[in-house]
Amino acid sequence: MEKVNITKQLDYMQKVKELNKDRDYAYYILTMGCQLNENDSEKICGMLEEMNYKRTENMQDADLVIFNTCCVRENAEEKLFGKLGEVKRLKEEKGTIIAIGGCMMQEKHIVEKIKKSYKYDVIFGTHTLHKFPQDLYKAIIEQKRIDDIIDIDGEIIEGLPIKRNDNIRASVTIMNGCNNFCSYCIVPYVRGRERSRDANDILEEIKELADKGYKEITLLGQNVNSYMVVEKSKNEVSGIDSFAKLLKEVNKVEGIEKIRFISPHPKDFTDDVIEAISTCKKVSKLIHLPLQSGSTEILKVMNRKYTKEQYLNLVDKMKERIPDVKFSTDIIVGFPGETEEDFEDTLNVVRKVGFEQVFMFIYSRRVGTPADKMENQVPEEIKHKRFDRLKELYEMQMAQNNKKYIGTIQNILVEGYSKNNENMLTGRTDSNKVVVFNGEDSLIGKFIDVEIISEHMWYLKGERK
Ligand code: 5AD
Ligand code: SF4
Repeated sequence: MEKVNITKQLDYMQKVKELNKDRDYAYYILTMGCQLNENDSEKICGMLEEMNYKRTENMQDADLVIFNTCCVRENAEEKLFGKLGEVKRLKEEKGTIIAIGGCMMQEKHIVEKIKKSYKYDVIFGTHTLHKFPQDLYKAIIEQKRIDDIIDIDGEIIEGLPIKRNDNIRASVTIMNGCNNFCSYCIVPYVRGRERSRDANDILEEIKELADKGYKEITLLGQNVNSYMVVEKSKNEVSGIDSFAKLLKEVNKVEGIEKIRFISPHPKDFTDDVIEAISTCKKVSKLIHLPLQSGSTEILKVMNRKYTKEQYLNLVDKMKERIPDVKFSTDIIVGFPGETEEDFEDTLNVVRKVGFEQVFMFIYSRRVGTPADKMENQVPEEIKHKRFDRLKELYEMQMAQNNKKYIGTIQNILVEGYSKNNENMLTGRTDSNKVVVFNGEDSLIGKFIDVEIISEHMWYLKGERK
């Protein structure tokens, strides 16, 4: 796939910088949504810092406010409208520039609503993120609203500056878009078709991160195990042409000691990926494997393309082939037509697999998706009751599972001081459990062994070995 030339945008960054040379300008950014969106925000921050803006955590102090939006569930939508109400006052009082970007801006009915009822200066979408410098420049110079949203399959953008949130762990997007069209999901409509970044660009980014001292990498994509599948079918790829091969190459990068990835799709979890996980020492043995539902009937209507049995067989196969493998998952409760029996199937899969982590979601109707048009929507009350039952099961399992950690030695990457207890350090096990323990500054960024001495639901307490 052709890469987009960003020279023009680099020029616009200089132009805005020139406009901003009289004093220090501040920006505030709010990111809603997933890690892909977080990674996009890091690029927005990278561009802004080039343009002489400094970050503030206080919206009131900002000259420029950016909302990077998500539309995967309704609550993210409500949050944006609340924030747009708040920032309106700032605009009236001191002329704060307001920019709104991200997934929600790819939805026509939302943009219409914003245009009609809210104040803003720039609207940009998922396919125009790299044009933000140009849009911002125009909004400042021409003093008019800029709407820059295009509806395309998507492109590959390389070379944008990036300002990362962390200096030990980093996310690297390996592919964008999604071709699966699960019937509940809005992502394929707002992020376009699947396209993979060239492995050389990915590896270069990771090597640079390793040189800067980063230790852990999370490879991101809506469907990571179809990395390069589309490109391969068009004969557009040479060399590293599969997710398994990419994992093996990343595993060779010196300095990087832990590799995670989200999210794979169970239907595309091929044997070569299982083999790569088991042979690559640095690849975490915690696999995020979105289940969505444990009912074969519901999975069919969701267009997930696997059955309950196929999911469980995949889990068994991985348990056989990958020593110490553990699983985390995403589950939606209350999908249209979900009966009590279907929901019981989901609970049964949760009991069988014994997930380390379950991300639970109440089904949220998304305009434009097939599931939104289904007539057998589950009443809110039932959805909430089922959600609570799933939560109860999960918390019971987690308490039991936490106990298994006591007395074990865990190798953890020390991330920094704990937010809840500033005297304690915090890190994560390979299975992504938070561990807090006593220790000194010099351990931050290192992998160390700790013995787990107690468990506290959302974290474990450890002692240095
Ligand atoms: N309602 C509820 N949850 C959803 N997800 C995606 N779309 C919806 C929806 N319409 C969940 C899925 C996905 C995760 C990122 O968000 O579980 O894996
Ligand atoms: Fe939200 Fe999905 Fe967009 Fe991520 S990709 S920001 S979860 S809508």
